[in-house]
Amino acid sequence: MLQRAQKSLTGGVSSPFRAQAPVPLYFKDAVGARLLDVDENWFIDYTLGWGPNIMGYKHPELIDAVRWAAEGVHTFGAQHEMEFLVSEKLQSLVPCAERVAYTSSGSEAIQIVLRLARAATKRNLILKFEGHYHGWMDSTLLSYHPSAADVGPRESPNVVAGSKGQVPNANDNVIVVRWNSAEAVEEALQRYEIAAVVMEPVMCNSGGIPPMPGYLEKVRELCTAKGTLLIFDEVITGFRIGLGGAQGFFGVTPDLATFGKAMAGGVPLSAFAGRKDLMEMMLYNGVAFGGTFNGNPLAMAGAYATLNLLERGALWEASKIGAMLMNGIRDIADRHQIPVLLTGFPTAFSIHFTRRPDLREYRDLFDDDADVLRRFVVSMINEGVNVLPDGRFYTSAVHTENDIDETLSAVDKAMFQATM
Ligand SMILES: Cc1ncc(COP(=O)(O)O)c(C=O)c1O
Repeated sequence: MLQRAQKSLTGGVSSPFRAQAPVPLYFKDAVGARLLDVDENWFIDYTLGWGPNIMGYKHPELIDAVRWAAEGVHTFGAQHEMEFLVSEKLQSLVPCAERVAYTSSGSEAIQIVLRLARAATKRNLILKFEGHYHGWMDSTLLSYHPSAADVGPRESPNVVAGSKGQVPNANDNVIVVRWNSAEAVEEALQRYEIAAVVMEPVMCNSGGIPPMPGYLEKVRELCTAKGTLLIFDEVITGFRIGLGGAQGFFGVTPDLATFGKAMAGGVPLSAFAGRKDLMEMMLYNGVAFGGTFNGNPLAMAGAYATLNLLERGALWEASKIGAMLMNGIRDIADRHQIPVLLTGFPTAFSIHFTRRPDLREYRDLFDDDADVLRRFVVSMINEGVNVLPDGRFYTSAVHTENDIDETLSAVDKAMFQATM
C-alpha cells in the first residue's frame, strides 16, 4: 500500500510528520482504544490520531452526533444553532472565553490570535519559547526543534527557522527565550516592546515539560505590568489536562487562547477564545478574519458531543487510566533500574530515557538517549502497542484496566529490549 500510495500521494503520507514513525502503517479500522492495521494486527493505541480521539474510536455517542450532522447540511456558510451551543459550552468551561470563534486547524487559530495581539497592542514582536510548537506556518515555526548546533547562547537563543522556504523576515518578528525562566521573560519584556507572550502551558510538543510552580503566575504578572498580552496555545492541553484547559488547571487566565485536537473528539475543528474587547476587534476594529468552513455543523456536532461526554466524567476516566499507566511504567523502570523520567500529565505524557533528575527546558532534552527511545518505540509497536515516535502517550476515556495490564507487559519487554 505504501508503495502504491507513494506513486500519487507525496511520500505516501498526508502529513510528513507521519513519515517519521519507524514504519508508516496502514490501518483499516479501530474500535475503543484499539486500532486494526491492514495485516489484521490489533494495536492498543496511545497515538489517538496525535491527540484528538480522547473518546477513543467509534464512540457511539460521537457517531450518533456526527451521523445526525452528516444527514443534515454540511456547511451553511452562515449562522446556525449548533455554533452557539458549542460556544456557550466553551464559555462555561474555559476561564478566558468571554467570546469564542472557530477555525479548522490549530495552525490557523494561532495566526489570528497573534494578529489580534499585534492589533490590540500596536506592537509587532511576539515572544515564544524554545521547543514550543504553534503550527507549521511561517510566523510561528521558529525554534521548535532546533539542533544543539543551532540553538545559540542559552541567555539569548537564536531564532531558528523550522523550514526551508520560510520567509526570512519571520525571524525578525519573534523573540525566543528558554522555557521555565521567569527572569528570561522579564528581561525580554524590559528590553523589547512585545505584543504577546505565546506558550504551550505544558510544553507537550517537546517532552511534556510542565511549568515550574509559580512560573505561569509570574509570567501573567509580568505581561500585565507591561501591557503585553498572554496567549495560551491549548491545542493539546485543552480538554485533556482539565475541562477548563491548562488555564483552569493552573488557575492562570490568559488574554487569548487556542484550542483544537481533543475538542471535537477527532472531527476537524479548532477554536480561539479570549477577552471580549480583543475578540471583537474582528468586528469593529479592522482585524480581518474568515474561513469558509468555520463553525460547520459536522465539526460543531463533534465538539458538542465530545465536550458533553468529557464533562459527564470521560475526562476523569482518561486521567485515571493515564495515571495508572504512568505509575506502572515508573515501577517497571525502577524494577529494571533503568533511568526513566515521565513528564506531562496523565492524558498526555512523555517517556524520557535520561539520567537527569528533572527536565525544565528544551535544551535538557539533548541528554535524552534518542537511540534507546527509538528502540523502545519499535519494540512497543512489535508488541502491539502504538505510541508516537517521540515517546508520547495520549490516553482516552475508553482505555480499560485490561489495556493497561497488556500495555505494561509490552513496556516491560520493550524497556528490556531497548536498553540491552
Ligand atoms: C500546541 C499546538 N499548537 C498548534 C498545533 C497545530 O495544530 P494543527 O496541526 O491542527 O494545525 C499543534 C499541533 O500539533 C499543537 O500541538
